Amino acid sequence: MSARLVRGRLLDFLSRPQGPDDTASYRLVEDGGLLLEDGRISARGDWADVRQMAGPDVPTDDYSGHLVLPGFIDPHIHFVQVQVVGSYAANLLEWLTTYTFVEEQKFADEQHGRRIASRFFDVLVQHGTTTAAAYCSVHPQSVDGFFAEAAQRNMLMIAGKCMMDRECPDALQDTPETGYADSRSLFERWHGKGRAHYAITPRFAITSTPEQMEMVSALIRDLPGAYVQTHLSENDGEIARVAELFPRFDDYLAVYEHYGLLGPKSLFGHAIHLGDRELAAMAETGSVAVSCPTSNLFLGSGLFDLQRTLQAGVPVALATDIGGGTSYSMLKTADAFYKVQQLLGNRFDPLGSFYQMTLGNASALSLADRIGTLEPGSDADLVVLDHGATPEMALRQQTVTSLPEQLFVLQTLGDDRSILETYVAGVALKGRLA
Ligand code: GUN
Ligand code: ZN
Repeated sequence: MSARLVRGRLLDFLSRPQGPDDTASYRLVEDGGLLLEDGRISARGDWADVRQMAGPDVPTDDYSGHLVLPGFIDPHIHFVQVQVVGSYAANLLEWLTTYTFVEEQKFADEQHGRRIASRFFDVLVQHGTTTAAAYCSVHPQSVDGFFAEAAQRNMLMIAGKCMMDRECPDALQDTPETGYADSRSLFERWHGKGRAHYAITPRFAITSTPEQMEMVSALIRDLPGAYVQTHLSENDGEIARVAELFPRFDDYLAVYEHYGLLGPKSLFGHAIHLGDRELAAMAETGSVAVSCPTSNLFLGSGLFDLQRTLQAGVPVALATDIGGGTSYSMLKTADAFYKVQQLLGNRFDPLGSFYQMTLGNASALSLADRIGTLEPGSDADLVVLDHGATPEMALRQQTVTSLPEQLFVLQTLGDDRSILETYVAGVALKGRLA
């Protein structure tokens, strides 16, 4: 039995904070201890108590003075786009056709996919991200490579093969039949194996014919427990094209509704330009709006209104959307999200940020019983933060007097240098990176 003690300032959340004074929304143990056994957290509490309970033989990783949180969760990322980040384009559709659809063709080569997946997971670990919901390419072998590399690191991952049978290069197209068959066999091969979860992944309404959308409905019916992930209402040009391709529907979401895509395990990336009817339908079905602020700013897609979305009762998640997004860091993603909310006149307080990156995103993925908190019994995925990682951060932190202030400086100035260590299933992985 592998056991390890972690000592540090333990921080996790119980609910979405209502503001920087909402002390009931989180738990902070200043000198805390976690006992990690066989990939799980088996005890948490004051350091002295947990140390005594564990007995003298269990080794300790001592991060006294540093914050220890549940690992960060990135609920929308394209692993096949790591070599697309920072590609210059006027808007989403130009970016997709000029760079992204070209790059994704390389994933026909299984070795290429495996190599990129390995690098991808190392980058996630470097940035403190322990779980992601990822888009692979249309090629089933890209999913095999992805889950095989995730399994080597024992990381909890959600992923699926893109289904796309029109409006993209021939080399990236499947058909309604192969899209169904390949998704189904990938689900059967991976879903529930170790920490892998499968996501049925119709890329977006533009690249799937009505015949393929029928097959998506069939997959949802035939593969209970699978996630669904797609893109929704990101960009004006995209919305106009969806209206041309699906003229009988009143709005964008109605296409997905018609084919039965809505539900609590359905993740809708972006969800920026939605009408009240669409928000109400998402709320009613528990469908998740996944905001990707660095991507939305980079591609000029629009500003996601957190207040309006939450007030409508829609579950919200926060993600990087690499490679439309411009940073793997959830700290920098939260910083961008904060700035977008500033432009809209909304408040997004620092407790809310750290809630969102951990329990908020775990809840949006229906995984709060496994990840997102430091609750005994849950998986031992952790991030250890160095709030003074750079000289300028250390200097700024000298004037900080409260936890929300400290978190806000971490979010505003922090990046992967602020990630002291990343634990996946009880194992410290960041220190092992080359
Ligand atoms: N919509 C359809 N595909 C994509 C993609 O790869 N990235 C983003 N940001 N939006 C999309
Ligand atoms: Zn995306």
